[in-house]
Amino acid sequence: MKKVVLLAALGLVAATGSSFAADAAAGEKVFAKCKACHMIGEGAKNRVGPELNGIDGRKQGSIEDFKGYGTDLKAMGEKGGTWNAAELDKYLTNPKAYNPGTKMAFAGLPEATDRENVIAYITSFKADGSKK
Ligand code: HEC
Repeated sequence: MKKVVLLAALGLVAATGSSFAADAAAGEKVFAKCKACHMIGEGAKNRVGPELNGIDGRKQGSIEDFKGYGTDLKAMGEKGGTWNAAELDKYLTNPKAYNPGTKMAFAGLPEATDRENVIAYITSFKADGSKK
């Protein structure tokens, strides 16, 4: 009987533990979907999409040597738009709805957990590509 109670208690800890903070390690796996176009971390370069270092607080469409922006994202940045977790969540839900002129040919991440985790992962890098 004691064993059953203990197992139930452990199960509860595990369940509440996982439903809290977003999981950057799980987000790294989700980032596999982004890797075809984006690099992040030390030495990251622009590919089909801009490198994503220091994305938390970064001005939208602001990587100078990236030539592949659609007009809208640059304009949003010029009006003071910056990326943060809330904006990234909206963008990654449906890039085309967020920004109809986007050049990001990506359907979006319909699962809130995938978005939370991938945002935790990409926002864990500083502008120089090192981890926060
Ligand atoms: C098919 C290529 C492709 C894939 C896949 C892709 N992106 Fe992009 N991404 C782009 C392009 C191109 C842009 C520039 C968009 C624009 O100008 O509207 C962009 C822009 C962005 C930006 C804005 C950067 C800035 O400088 O303002 C973020 C953030 C971003 N992508 C995150 C992601 C994440 C996270 C994923 C995976 C879940 C992903 N992207 C998947 C091509 C891609």
